[in-house]
Amino acid sequence: MNKIFTILIIFFLLAGATAVGLWMAGALPGVGKDQGRSSSLVVGVPQIGGPFSLVNHKGERVTEADFKGKLMLVFFGFTHCPDVCPTELQTISVAMQELGDAADQVTPVFITVDPERDTQELMADFVEAFDPSIVGLTGSQDEIADVMKKYRVYAQKRDEQDSEYYLVDHSAYTYLMDRDGELITVFSFGVSPEEMTAKIRENL
Ligand code: NI
Repeated sequence: MNKIFTILIIFFLLAGATAVGLWMAGALPGVGKDQGRSSSLVVGVPQIGGPFSLVNHKGERVTEADFKGKLMLVFFGFTHCPDVCPTELQTISVAMQELGDAADQVTPVFITVDPERDTQELMADFVEAFDPSIVGLTGSQDEIADVMKKYRVYAQKRDEQDSEYYLVDHSAYTYLMDRDGELITVFSFGVSPEEMTAKIRENL
């Protein structure tokens, strides 16, 4: 009787250990995989986004409330940018095309970090060259400084002789925001349109 009891105890202990082992083996690679994805950036990252009041490329005053109800792809840059901004806006344009019918649930937004030169007209010329759905936003120096701070965007005008043809170094992340304006994920510069489209589809 004692012997059977002991065998039963050992059986349950082994079964328990096996179950825990299987659970860990299943769970740990899952966690590891997720950490490699951009979505995990959201965890523990301070608040990104928030209220803003800016002027769109059609000359209308808009706030974050005007963008609610749709996902938002937010990219910061400047229209005189020779490479990074055109590249990223091209990626966004391709992603929007690949979304097909779902594209009407997403608003791509291009916010200038160079309000000094980026007038409403320049913003209109720039965004319309890429995709008709892209909304260009500019504003006063203070308004732009405020929205940059909320999205933790860095931009530094380069010291150059020419006061009109300067360059601006800037961070180049694309933020995917949900229908309430909350951050879903951040894409690094160089993300493929396919990855962008896949992430958007996951969150439609
Ligand atoms: Ni740029």
